Amino acid sequence: MLKLGVIGYPIGHSLSPRMHNAALRALSLDGEYSAIAVESAGLTEAVRGLFAQGFAGLNVTIPHKQAILPLMDELANSARVIGAVNTIVKVDGCMIGHNTDAAGFMRGLTNAGFNPAGARVFVMGAGGAARAVVYALCDARASVVVWNRTYERAERLASEFGVDAIDCLPMGTLGRFDLIVNTTSVGMSPHQDQTPLQFPMGERTPQWVYDLVYRPRETRFLREARAAGARTIAGLDMLVYQGAEAFTLWTGLAAPVDVMRNAIMDS
Ligand code: ATR
Repeated sequence: MLKLGVIGYPIGHSLSPRMHNAALRALSLDGEYSAIAVESAGLTEAVRGLFAQGFAGLNVTIPHKQAILPLMDELANSARVIGAVNTIVKVDGCMIGHNTDAAGFMRGLTNAGFNPAGARVFVMGAGGAARAVVYALCDARASVVVWNRTYERAERLASEFGVDAIDCLPMGTLGRFDLIVNTTSVGMSPHQDQTPLQFPMGERTPQWVYDLVYRPRETRFLREARAAGARTIAGLDMLVYQGAEAFTLWTGLAAPVDVMRNAIMDS
């Protein structure tokens, strides 16, 4: 039996078990994906213990994505550059750390029909999620500008990835970007009345808007962007695709993304 799971703390609200168990069933695989509460103090012991018990792979979520790095035997390029691991695969007794957030983000974009090569992208936020987004965009040869409430973090992230940072929202000229991405938590339930940006934002609306927040399904930011004429991509897409990428790393199979999406749609 394929033993999989997600470790984090708290972990009760994770949607990953529903998504992955639905995928395992859809492909008639003998496996089970569980949510495992692991506190920071017991991280090393818990991870070693789970793999000793026969786990083949794990997802890693808050607060362990960075702390887990030194425990890995090897890191995929994405995990090393982003500085965070969200997926562990056990190969020949070794723990390999991956980061599927970047690929999940990019799959959400390209699936919607956006071509990132040469595109001008405005990224809001400079936390862990922003690092995965900027990594993915740079890898796809987009031109990136980062803004963050705390400018120093934006500046640090930008200099590390060789992109630009700005210290105030260029409201009148945001329309010159092809895509705006929200990686901040602004607008997340229970604060769904908030938005990181108000529309209209000058004479032009950016053509594409992507919000990583997935609770609610359509944030105020996306709703207003859509009303202003932008094409929108929801955070649920990135959530499903990062899971799909992890599923493929563990099983070697194409993930049933529609099944995974349906499994968490009404949550
Ligand atoms: P994650 O891993 O999800 O990116 P994080 O590393 O805690 O989480 O980063 C949260 C991001 O949301 C940061 O960019 C944060 O801005 P600061 O660096 O200034 O803290 C941003 N953020 C959170 N609340 C915000 C708010 N009310 N207004 C603007 N930005 C906010």
